[in-house]
Amino acid sequence: MSVVVTGSIATDHLMTFPGRFTDQFVEGKMENVSLSFLVDDLVQHRGGAGANMAYGLGLLGLRPVLVGAVGSDFDDYDSWLSRHGVDTGSVHWSELKHTARFTCTTDAANNQIASFYSGAMSEASLIELAPVEKRVGGVDLVIVGPNDPTAMAQHTRECRERGYPFLADPSQQLAWADGELIRELVEGADLLFTNEYEHALLLQKTGWTDAEVLARVGTWVTTRAANGVRVEQAGAETIEVIAVPETKPVEPTGGGDALRAGFVAARQWGLGVERATQVGSAVATAAVEVIGTQEYSLPREPFLERFAEAFGPDAADEVAPHLPA
Ligand SMILES: Nc1ncnc2c1ncn2[C@@H]1O[C@H](COP(=O)(O)OP(=O)(O)OP(=O)(O)O)[C@@H](O)[C@H]1O
Ligand SMILES: [Mg+2]
Repeated sequence: MSVVVTGSIATDHLMTFPGRFTDQFVEGKMENVSLSFLVDDLVQHRGGAGANMAYGLGLLGLRPVLVGAVGSDFDDYDSWLSRHGVDTGSVHWSELKHTARFTCTTDAANNQIASFYSGAMSEASLIELAPVEKRVGGVDLVIVGPNDPTAMAQHTRECRERGYPFLADPSQQLAWADGELIRELVEGADLLFTNEYEHALLLQKTGWTDAEVLARVGTWVTTRAANGVRVEQAGAETIEVIAVPETKPVEPTGGGDALRAGFVAARQWGLGVERATQVGSAVATAAVEVIGTQEYSLPREPFLERFAEAFGPDAADEVAPHLPA
């Protein structure tokens, strides 16, 4: 039985301009802008929430099935994910469009000019989950991560209809989605993940109270960056888990995806909700301490040592047998 991860697959192309954009703008000539910035650095990162979560699950020894849409430029990225334990056999390759791409130039004053091309992602809604289930021989959990909105709604609906347990992870799509779509994405989820800001936004847009959300989902996990993680379930005590002490974030992006991967992997190993949240926190720490969302690794002994320092030796003993060598 498999964990199926649906969500965005994208690359980031980040450039640095040593001057200031504002020095290049000519006052009174803004209606005919034609500017080229000579940049001195280009960094490319693999990303997209779906691919990030699948990467984390692969590192933890699961064989997650990635479901999303990409373009013909996906070859290298495909082999990277496959090498890290991800089953990419259900990824849809667009014949016309490129893989989604975020391009951003930052100047010396930290101003940014960025574009997001969603590209092939718009074809994610063409993917049905039933053939995926058939190919891999059973589905334990479907993660419905941030993606093309039509695809998110459709994957969620298919999960409900076919009875696949699912994890709702609307993330940044909450910013513009309306209450009706959000209610549709959340209703009946086994697991709901948000950060603290998204938690508030979800309540505001759906018009639901905390209790009304908890009546519709099994477990609601809310991440609070350095302040730890809160886990709520209807009729149960709220669980609070600390963030790993002495975490030194160099780039917080991707922490949320890594946390979800750690949590889901630990639940697949059969560990309890609190322990799984601790594993999530520890994986998130590894992710935020490097630049890029798929650049971290989880070397077994150092990982367990730090885990034991943060959450105690007994907790580490429970995790140890499941961590890949
Ligand atoms: N400053 C920090 N110190 C310790 N842990 C952190 C820090 N920032 C992030 N994390 C870890 O990453 C997890 C997710 O971070 P956060 O709550 O900021 O989610 P997010 O805003 O959704 O992240 P993302 O940028 O990946 O979308 C946290 O629960 C925590 O484990
Ligand atoms: Mg997030």
